[in-house]
Amino acid sequence: MSTTDEIKAKIDIVDLVSEAGVKLRKAGRNYTGFCPFHDNKHTPAFVVWPESGTWRCFGQCNEGGDIFKFVMKREGIDFREALQKLAQRAGVQIQEFQHETPQVKEAHEHLRKLLEDALVFYRSHLFQNQDVLSYLREKRKLTDATIETFGLGYAPSGWDTALKHFTAKGYLQQDLIDAGLLTVRDSDGQSTKGDQRVYDRFRHRIMIPIRDENGRMTGFGARIVDPNDIPKFLNSPETPIFTKGHLLYGLDRARKPIRAADQAVIVEGYLDVIALHQAGYENVVSPMGTALTEEQLRLLKKFTRRIVLALDPDAAGQKAVLRGLDAARAAMDREGELGFDARGLLRNEARLQADLRVASMPDGLDPDELVARDPQEWKHLIEKAKPIVEHVLDTLVADRDVNDPKVKNQVAQQVLPLIADLPSAIERDTYRQMLARRLRVDERTLTGDPVQGPAFVRRKPRTAGSRSAAETPVAETVRPSQKIESYALGVLFRKPELCYRLDRLLEGSGLAALSPEDFEYTDHQLFFRVIRQSLEQVEADHHAYVTARIPEDLLGLAKDLLSQTEKLDPVDDRLLEELFRSVIKMRRLIVEANFNQLRFIMEDAQQEGDLRVKSYQEQALQYSRLRNNLDRALKSVNARK
Ligand code: UTP
Ligand code: MN
Repeated sequence: MSTTDEIKAKIDIVDLVSEAGVKLRKAGRNYTGFCPFHDNKHTPAFVVWPESGTWRCFGQCNEGGDIFKFVMKREGIDFREALQKLAQRAGVQIQEFQHETPQVKEAHEHLRKLLEDALVFYRSHLFQNQDVLSYLREKRKLTDATIETFGLGYAPSGWDTALKHFTAKGYLQQDLIDAGLLTVRDSDGQSTKGDQRVYDRFRHRIMIPIRDENGRMTGFGARIVDPNDIPKFLNSPETPIFTKGHLLYGLDRARKPIRAADQAVIVEGYLDVIALHQAGYENVVSPMGTALTEEQLRLLKKFTRRIVLALDPDAAGQKAVLRGLDAARAAMDREGELGFDARGLLRNEARLQADLRVASMPDGLDPDELVARDPQEWKHLIEKAKPIVEHVLDTLVADRDVNDPKVKNQVAQQVLPLIADLPSAIERDTYRQMLARRLRVDERTLTGDPVQGPAFVRRKPRTAGSRSAAETPVAETVRPSQKIESYALGVLFRKPELCYRLDRLLEGSGLAALSPEDFEYTDHQLFFRVIRQSLEQVEADHHAYVTARIPEDLLGLAKDLLSQTEKLDPVDDRLLEELFRSVIKMRRLIVEANFNQLRFIMEDAQQEGDLRVKSYQEQALQYSRLRNNLDRALKSVNARK
């Protein structure tokens, strides 16, 4: 194979063209899009053939070629430069521009040889240590064949066992340092190579050899034996042949099964990979305790486009989802966490034209525990994997009351930006519909363009038990109910005695007295309750009573309410009417929302042939009666004017 052929084989033209900003749509076996070389944005005349690795513009340009031609034209460079660029990307050596001199290559081979020897060394120590061996066999349920296949070993406790062993075999101390088997430390504790003190990096640990996708040794992952040791996992340091972000553990063994299944599953832990392979699920790999990188996905994509992330509920859960949305990337890149950055993953999914899904582990189990419990369960779990947006939505909604408008709003604010990011209009539509159904709101209210709420600033959550979602500062959408509610609350806070008169007026119209449930916002409900309580007190100063009893973080709200009611209508009767109207409007909005919600439930129920359809219909009827009553009451008050 020629160098250019090799480069072509390694670079996916669909990726290349997509990355250049051309949005491609699959059309049969090919992809089409708008030509990046001329500015007709009306007809997608640009076609890419992934199989032959070629492209052509059937429009104005009437030109085509391969990846080299594309890069030349796109970047205005010559063939030689394009070759160099693409060779680098593909990781292919070109004779003239070789990055790895024969000497460098030889040095790498030398390191690999040393690592292979280290594997043998650690293995022999494993078979001398009955405790560790029985931990692997009994606790981890690994067979001897698996231990052998994955080359597991044990690094003894001494500080210089490996050092002595390998220098005696003729390796230089520097070789051991370069391969990451020794730690170098100077007298004040910093890693330098000056006044050095060296010792075995891996001591009293289970050794897990890490190979690249071609099976070549690159380094080790090392798990503690003593539960009190830290860190739990220690990896080889970055060496000339070990770059964590570019490797996937297990890929050398998984690549064929991945291709065969046309699916790859990514789990978090090395031991999960091993356990799953042992159970017959061989299309499984893991990163090395760092967030999933684009390189890793790209690497996988050589074998399949269908990738499932099997995440433990914690990592996939609330905090991770939010962290991802908040783009707190730095925090995610630390060791020991497979970050779940929904936004990043979606970008990669689009850019790599991959199909990324998420399966979350049930019952707080790791994949290895799950598969030990019931191998079939793993299969089902992977089959049930959901697209990223759906997963995020489910996670945000889980255990929360989607009838609470606050919750609806928070969830929408977090999912909408993800949806807006999707490159395909069909997907955007589908997910927006899904979101509307899940939140039981009218789809039209989900504009995808959240209105910033200047009047309503997020406060910290009040209750200790509130979920972390509430901690994320989200822009609140100001809905009509918010303004009306805060008006009514303000009036009542300023003149609590109006409460009684309002209730009489409501009851006179055949409606219920004002209750906390008439307020949609939790804060407002709480505030209103305290106002009500204050009325039962003999002491005169209601304001002092209320401000002393509301949670501290509602003091700002109290202040706002007072300042917003400074210039109220001085005539109590007119004020009362205005208040009455507000309450009717508040109820009207809630009835409307419930009505909508019911519509979604009914649609679902009808589709599923649910027997409750009838009772839903009755409820709907009640809502429409209530709505009529409210409208009538409003009319009669207006007529009195
Ligand atoms: P886990 O703590 O979930 O470990 O870390 P595990 O794989 O389930 O191990 P067992 O089952 O307790 O033996 C998952 C992965 O995160 C990385 C490792 O790659 C580990 O396999 N990790 C974890 C680190 O890199 N450093 C750590 O300190 C902890
Ligand atoms: Mn585990």
